[in-house]
Amino acid sequence: MNISIRHETEQDYREVEELTREAFWNLYVPGCDEHYLVHQMRRHPDFLSELAFVAVVDSKIVGNIMYTRSWVADASNQRIETATFGPISVLPAWQRQGIGGALIRHSSKIALEHGYKAIIIHGHPHNYCKHGFKSSMDFNISDAEGKFPYSLLVLELEKGVFAERNWRYLTSDAYNIDAHAAAEFDKQFPPKQKEYRYTQEEFHIASRAYLG
Ligand SMILES: CC(C)(COP(=O)(O)OP(=O)(O)OC[C@H]1O[C@@H](n2cnc3c(N)ncnc32)[C@H](O)[C@@H]1OP(=O)(O)O)[C@@H](O)C(=O)NCCC(=O)NCCS
Repeated sequence: MNISIRHETEQDYREVEELTREAFWNLYVPGCDEHYLVHQMRRHPDFLSELAFVAVVDSKIVGNIMYTRSWVADASNQRIETATFGPISVLPAWQRQGIGGALIRHSSKIALEHGYKAIIIHGHPHNYCKHGFKSSMDFNISDAEGKFPYSLLVLELEKGVFAERNWRYLTSDAYNIDAHAAAEFDKQFPPKQKEYRYTQEEFHIASRAYLG
């Protein structure tokens, strides 16, 4: 298999939205909104186009990763800008062949070259600790409410950048999408059955879990 990773271009937009829908459909909730998120995110000032990549096999896009800027703020509101990815998607038929890992490794290398000090995400530790992500608690980075979510994970790109201070993680409002608009947007795609999968329960549990 010959995978190449390149920057996303405008011509890729629809194909990326279709693949995002295929990857997320029924996974965390019945149906999904992530394809609408992708559609909206690219217009947001916090979108990092220099970190939007697609994975291509035989000229077909099989995976993608997208980032927004994010921040950590200390008690005196001094901030460090960080990068946050999501969604990351690989078409179901192409999963478990190293494509997701390759997208994370490639984009984190480019993030470092652009001067980002860390990548901070919400995600399943199973998917990301193998790529060097650690619990945000290890860096004294809480969420905006001062809690330490199980899913809040940090990949330090500059060693020691968070040392000796407590931080709050602040996300871009690019992730706040309107559910009604997302449902309307989905009508542009071929109909797909919304249904329950046990992965929705796993997500429901993990997204309410906190450390400490
Ligand atoms: C999460 C996601 C992006 C991962 O992409 P992926 O291409 O499957 O990731 P990888 O192939 O790099 O790794 C997945 C697994 O395949 C294994 N793998 C990688 N190459 C392999 C190969 N050649 N043969 C067998 N297994 C392989 C990895 O070791 C890993 O195993 P593990 O989960 O048991 O640790 C993908 O599953 C996806 O799109 N999911 C739906 C959307 C989603 O949940 N996104 C993340 C939101 S938090």
